[in-house]
Amino acid sequence: MKGILLSGGTGTRLYPVTLAVSKQLLPVFDKPMIYYSLSLLLFAGIRDILVITTEADQAAYRALLGDGSDIGVSIRYAIQAEPQGIAQAFLIGSDFIAGDRCALVLGDNILYGSGLQRVLQEKAAGLSRGAVAFSCAVADPERFAIVTADKKGKPLRIEEKPKRPRSNQAVIGLYYYDERVVDVARRIKPSDRGELEITAVNQWYLERGELEVAQLGRGYAWLDAGTHEALVQAGEFVKIVEQRQGLKLGCIEEIAYRMGFIDLAQLRILACKYANSSYGGYLSKLALEFEAESPAGISAGATAA
Ligand code: G1P
Repeated sequence: MKGILLSGGTGTRLYPVTLAVSKQLLPVFDKPMIYYSLSLLLFAGIRDILVITTEADQAAYRALLGDGSDIGVSIRYAIQAEPQGIAQAFLIGSDFIAGDRCALVLGDNILYGSGLQRVLQEKAAGLSRGAVAFSCAVADPERFAIVTADKKGKPLRIEEKPKRPRSNQAVIGLYYYDERVVDVARRIKPSDRGELEITAVNQWYLERGELEVAQLGRGYAWLDAGTHEALVQAGEFVKIVEQRQGLKLGCIEEIAYRMGFIDLAQLRILACKYANSSYGGYLSKLALEFEAESPAGISAGATAA
């Protein structure tokens, strides 16, 4: 399965902060916002990734993520010249998708909860035909695509920013699609706000009974970072959880190692690269722990002793 990370947009709700910097590159506590979205693709086992940005922002994303080899994945880049909707990502990325299945994640999707990796992997592995959208409960449903489902969880209706929401289950910015998605995106018409809506794509699958909505229960937090206040709150949330647990959220190097995308030597190189920051310190600590866990590490330790 391929993965598209859509990180376009002008972030006007964060002006002037985002006048010169892409919103999704802003820090959420100790790492750029986009790491949290990228983590979701890594958790799903996706190693072939297209990052779509505005033309002005592309250089900064390249400086941050490079070709992905640091974390054992392939990252390519494409430009969204005009913000014409989330579903435009499939038209921009059609050559990249090349008839494969494809996941799409928005670059500001911060998601936290127990068992996240398992659900992301299972849904990706289980998708042969149709689409999967993920949903979470929200307090302000009129701001999102809202899904209503029957008692068994089968989606009945999906409405973009309804004035009178029928539920509080918001479709978050994470989706998996089968190989028909590019054709579907070509077929849909722009909405009243002039955008190719991802909800129109999901609607196409729903009408055919081929949309699964994976509801992430109340143990999950889906964080907004789209306003000044929400950005600080998201950072505080991450800080509190990380400092309490001594574990990091959205640490792409750790995930890459745990997923088997990079080895211990590569992890150590990344730890050295960031040696002056607490983030680098965390990677160093991890590398030592992993070394102690591995049989080779034990024998190396024994020799040293
Ligand atoms: C977009 C989608 C919406 C989805 C939301 C998730 O909203 O259109 O369906 O619920 O992302 O963040 P927008 O960013 O366009 O307001």
